[in-house]
Amino acid sequence: MSDKRILLIIAGGIAAYKSLELIRELSRRGINSRCIVTRSGQEFVTPLSVSALSGEKCFTQLFDLDDEAEMGHIELSRSADLVVVCPATADLMAKAAGGLANDLASTTLLATDKPVLMVPAMNVRMWQHAATQRNVTTLCSDGVTVMDPDEGMMACGEFGPGRLPQVATIAAQIEAMLGQSSDLLEFGGKPLAGCHALVTAGPTREPLDPVRFLSNHSSGRQGYAIADALAAAGARVTLVSGPVSLDCPRGVDLVPIETAREMMTACETALPADVFVAVAAVADWRPSRAAAKKMKLKEAGNAVHPALELSENPDILATLSRKKKNRPSLIIGFAAETHDVETLAQAKLKRKRCDWIVANDVSGDVMGGLHNEVSLVTRSGIEHWDRMDKAKVAVRLVQRIADKFGRDSADIIAAE
Ligand code: CTP
Repeated sequence: MSDKRILLIIAGGIAAYKSLELIRELSRRGINSRCIVTRSGQEFVTPLSVSALSGEKCFTQLFDLDDEAEMGHIELSRSADLVVVCPATADLMAKAAGGLANDLASTTLLATDKPVLMVPAMNVRMWQHAATQRNVTTLCSDGVTVMDPDEGMMACGEFGPGRLPQVATIAAQIEAMLGQSSDLLEFGGKPLAGCHALVTAGPTREPLDPVRFLSNHSSGRQGYAIADALAAAGARVTLVSGPVSLDCPRGVDLVPIETAREMMTACETALPADVFVAVAAVADWRPSRAAAKKMKLKEAGNAVHPALELSENPDILATLSRKKKNRPSLIIGFAAETHDVETLAQAKLKRKRCDWIVANDVSGDVMGGLHNEVSLVTRSGIEHWDRMDKAKVAVRLVQRIADKFGRDSADIIAAE
């Protein structure tokens, strides 16, 4: 029997009944659950059924003399290896993203020093609402792992993403996170100490005039996660980034840029580097002429449709890969494709002369999303990695980088 224990917070949603199945499934896998049921959660499941299944007292209130005497809420928040919120409602996620602490669940989330997993389940419109998505982004940048909800017919009769994932999928995620109980940012050993890593991330913006530009949907999440993981592994990291709404990871030098040409110059300036990871979604083309004043395209008498003349941008990855002097010893590109992913990635590896390509299929929810499913393409073969959140893709890639540099990556492996 494993001695792993989770703290399971059950919030109020129709999917709450599945948390009972989850407790049973986890116990089958040797994982104990200590539970908190929120006030609205108690509309769907009773503390009695929860404690009967978990075999432990179920906690419900912030100020309860008996509970506080037995186990204070701070201790409760730290008594497990992992805190799991299932189902995570829009309300509880909003509270956690805003740092509110006005009941036992929100106080516990604010007080915990353990990894947190949230498993959202809610109506599709609530899930897709800008406020919920903003809160999910905040939670992720605070280090919380948020699972993607499943898509399908909902209890309310609507169709779309918002359903609780399968209990077995949630249990597998919990097992994986318990396996990596040490926080990535805390691992010691620093296998990349002494290395300089250069990372590009985010989109570029190519101006048409002072108020318009050409750009793309890149959120910068994958590049920022890689910069974060490289810094955690001890590298000195320069992150050259287009405009994104993410905070710069701790210990990383950020060089903000807007255009591809600015990104090229910033990368050249940052050399020499040992590793170059090109994650940015660089615009391949820019308007040949950016107007100095706002273009007037609908003025009276202007019957001609505007035509866009484009010029090619520098290819940063290919330029650095072809360098004779100052070429980083390991150059990793990304290939975002919507079809024939691995074949196109192999061709890109040759064409750009980089060492590895991380290939991903962006036909789904990858761009701007929290998860990524990638293949690592090297000259010696292709390795497919399962769908995982972008932080885990980053850790795995940094583990590979450390292996390549021949350093002891045991600490990173332990953190994965
Ligand atoms: N890249 C770059 N500079 C560019 C274009 C792309 O450094 N001007 C890098 C990206 O950061 C990524 C890799 O090249 O690591 C592949 O980018 P991608 O957009 O997939 O490839 P493209 O070269 O743009 O080719 P295509 O759009 O035809 O697939």
